[in-house]
Amino acid sequence: MAASARVTRNILCIGAGYVGGPTMAVIAARCPQYRVTVVDVNPVRIDAWNSDRLPIYEPGLLEIVKIARNRNLFFSTDIGRGIGEAEVIFVSVNTPTKTFGAGAGKAADLQYWEKTARDILRASRSDKIIVEKSTLPVRTARAMERILEANDKGIRFEVLSNPEFLAEGTAVDDLNNPDRVLIGSHETEAGIKARNVLVEIYANWVPVERILTSNVWSAELSKLASNAFLAQRISSINSISALCEKTEANVNEVARAIGMDRRIGNRFLRASVGFGGSCFKKDILNLVYLCEKYGLHEVALYWESVIAINDYQKRRFVKTMLRVMFNTIAGKKIALFGFAFKADTGDTRESPAIDVARELAEEQAHVVITDPQALRNAENDLASCRMQVTFTEDPYEAASGAHAIAVMTEWELYKTLDYQRIFDGMEKPAFLFDGRNILDHEKLHEIGFNVFPVGEAALKHF
Ligand code: UDX
Ligand code: ADP
Repeated sequence: MAASARVTRNILCIGAGYVGGPTMAVIAARCPQYRVTVVDVNPVRIDAWNSDRLPIYEPGLLEIVKIARNRNLFFSTDIGRGIGEAEVIFVSVNTPTKTFGAGAGKAADLQYWEKTARDILRASRSDKIIVEKSTLPVRTARAMERILEANDKGIRFEVLSNPEFLAEGTAVDDLNNPDRVLIGSHETEAGIKARNVLVEIYANWVPVERILTSNVWSAELSKLASNAFLAQRISSINSISALCEKTEANVNEVARAIGMDRRIGNRFLRASVGFGGSCFKKDILNLVYLCEKYGLHEVALYWESVIAINDYQKRRFVKTMLRVMFNTIAGKKIALFGFAFKADTGDTRESPAIDVARELAEEQAHVVITDPQALRNAENDLASCRMQVTFTEDPYEAASGAHAIAVMTEWELYKTLDYQRIFDGMEKPAFLFDGRNILDHEKLHEIGFNVFPVGEAALKHF
């Protein structure tokens, strides 16, 4: 394909992570007429993308990658060459929360982003369309433009915002059938021309009525606001779960009743031990920082409370464990079923399981972690409390001799385990804390477990 006359566009993506990798794989698979290259500073990541052990676990991804890899999809560390050849450059480098200096703990750390802008400037020899894929604070495109415009090569760069709304675990499906694709551009002639190039790329498989266009700032803000609204729904239902536990109301019944109101809708109302993932907390902190910067203190406080409730929910979960296990868990074995921040991913960023495991370890429990995909990440996350923690892929082994099980991730496999066998091998009284409300609580109670769901009455034998 490399020298084929059929190549109609050269597309580059800088950053081969959870966003860049799957997005480019789908574009390449859907559009054989484009040559798509994904570059990254990390050679280990690139080697993994070129192997059958991809650096991220995502259902259906390997199949898609295999369709296009070395046909019109290439993974490389040669960033300069990639920039030189490309006409459209997607930027999906990481933008974590800043850990130092002004805005530490809230603002986005834009150092990787700025370095990329400078790389683009250095290696470019022709006009380019730059597409922001990473989630960025509103008005970042302006900073990108200022850096890029500071060139005396006579090159024009047009910066677009095209935030990615995919969720992990369903990335391939989300990319194949997006609810919407959002493209923000300047409303100038050059801006609209660049926007049309991107619209044309997506229109290869996305119905045009789902391709929305807006100004750049609306597109940037829509991404932050979408994630904030989704996280807010979870914190709302989690706050109600606390009240349910005090009043004998059942949070699943309440969520069902609320969700049948079509104005509210029934999705994202599952009470849980708390939300995790790389986006929700980071994006809300980002929003809060922006509000504070513009003097909107009440608005900042409003969104900050979504994170406060999430932290409260995680703490509340551990407190319940401690209280019902006779206020001491020192020396007790506790099995965490799942460590990923949600099912169908090996990603553990901001996973509630991290906080829960650390707090249990602080109480001197012996914590055993089991997860089908996330153990490697879990080992890194828990490096600071290694003495108190062990890891196994086998849930039966994890639960053997344990005083308690806590379900942290809604993996399907935990629904179908032989809980009689598990109960028989546990210390008694055996406790089960279902942080995802996925198990059959009545049945577990019949087997002999003392069951503590989220937002529902406990089922106890004492
Ligand atoms: C999210 C957004 O959904 C996506 O649009 C955006 O592009 C990136 O951030 P992601 O973080 O991959 O995606 O996962 P998501 O499915 O949104 O779940 C986030 C967290 O909320 C998980 O920990 C999940 O378990 C939790 N959750 C979700 C609940 O606790 N209850 C729910 O009802 C839904
Ligand atoms: P996301 O979830 O937003 O995709 P990831 O952390 O998974 O974020 O991926 C971001 C990727 O960007 C990482 O693989 C990282 O190595 C890469 N990266 C960071 N800075 C640069 C840079 N200047 N040039 C190329 N790649 C970069």
